[in-house]
Amino acid sequence: MGKIEIIRGDITKLSTDAIVNAANRSLLGGGGVDGAIHRAAGSELVRACGLLNGCNTGGAKITPGFKLPARYVIHSVGPVWQGGMYHEKELLASCYIQSLRLAIVNNLRSIAFPNISTGIYGFPKHEAATIALETVRDFLVHHPEIERIVFCCFDEENFEIYNYLNSDHLVIVKAQSQDDILIISDLASVIWNEHYVPIIGKEQVDYMVSTFQSREAIANQIQNENYWYYILYHLAMPSGYIAIKHNGNELFLSKFYLIKQKRGTGLGKEGLKFILGRARALGATSITLTVNKNNSSSIKAYEKMGFKNEGAVIADIGSGYVMDDYRMRLEIES
Ligand code: APR
Repeated sequence: MGKIEIIRGDITKLSTDAIVNAANRSLLGGGGVDGAIHRAAGSELVRACGLLNGCNTGGAKITPGFKLPARYVIHSVGPVWQGGMYHEKELLASCYIQSLRLAIVNNLRSIAFPNISTGIYGFPKHEAATIALETVRDFLVHHPEIERIVFCCFDEENFEIYNYLNSDHLVIVKAQSQDDILIISDLASVIWNEHYVPIIGKEQVDYMVSTFQSREAIANQIQNENYWYYILYHLAMPSGYIAIKHNGNELFLSKFYLIKQKRGTGLGKEGLKFILGRARALGATSITLTVNKNNSSSIKAYEKMGFKNEGAVIADIGSGYVMDDYRMRLEIES
């Protein structure tokens, strides 16, 4: 898979096969990185762009680099951020995909991107970085012919965000928007089917996911039942989620899941560290949870983390299904 690099600097100085310009639909130049690229490339660039008949948002078109060290400029038009309800995320992802497709068609091996749309167009930087990294990573998996991707960050904030998202850290984001809730509900469906079907059967899993982990159910838990949900991102990919509820001096750990391919990688420990931090911040003296009696792998994992088994807890969860769990507790040293 091609190598991803994150650098801090001026994209007009880079000698990758192509640099991407965060252009506007006219392609006739502007401010920000667009202005910098046109200044460095010289007046032939705007003449070449003038023959391209503009470019749609989410699209990309290619010209020579002229006086730039890069052989080509791929002009891509990012979306203006309008609150996230006008397909801005899909359009931003399309900028990266269309630019990479142009690189493939022109047999380019290395390409540098600025942080498209995060300047004048106002796209939230963390969200934009997550989309950029996720989209490019996914493309590289299917296109080994691209050998090198450089994310050229001009400002410190973007540089920090990209490095953090690209590092081997869990990035834990509190679920707030409808999109976040959708991500969690989708994760729940994947995780519960891969993890619980062998334990409680498909029917009960379908009932529980549709009853307790649907978008509406999660939204209701957050809005009306004082649950806090967090998405666990790893390498910019949604990899699990946590749900907690603060009850006096107890923190109830309602959900703590990682997708199968991220289990056993040490990320569980990072997630627990976060939960402990939240418990301490809320003044809780213990963390409690319930785990299905037959879920031996999770029981072992929790015991390894220091949770003690406090015995059986059985509850009717509706439609004739019964939750047959153990309650486990982790005392928090002060
Ligand atoms: N090298 C790399 N990145 C740069 C450079 C540079 N020389 N100059 C600016 N940037 C960064 C900004 O810091 C920002 O992170 O490029 C990112 C994108 O910001 P803008 O250039 O403002 O682009 P964008 O937000 O996509 O808005 C596009 O701005 O320049 C106009 O004509 C352009 O109308 C279009 C709009």
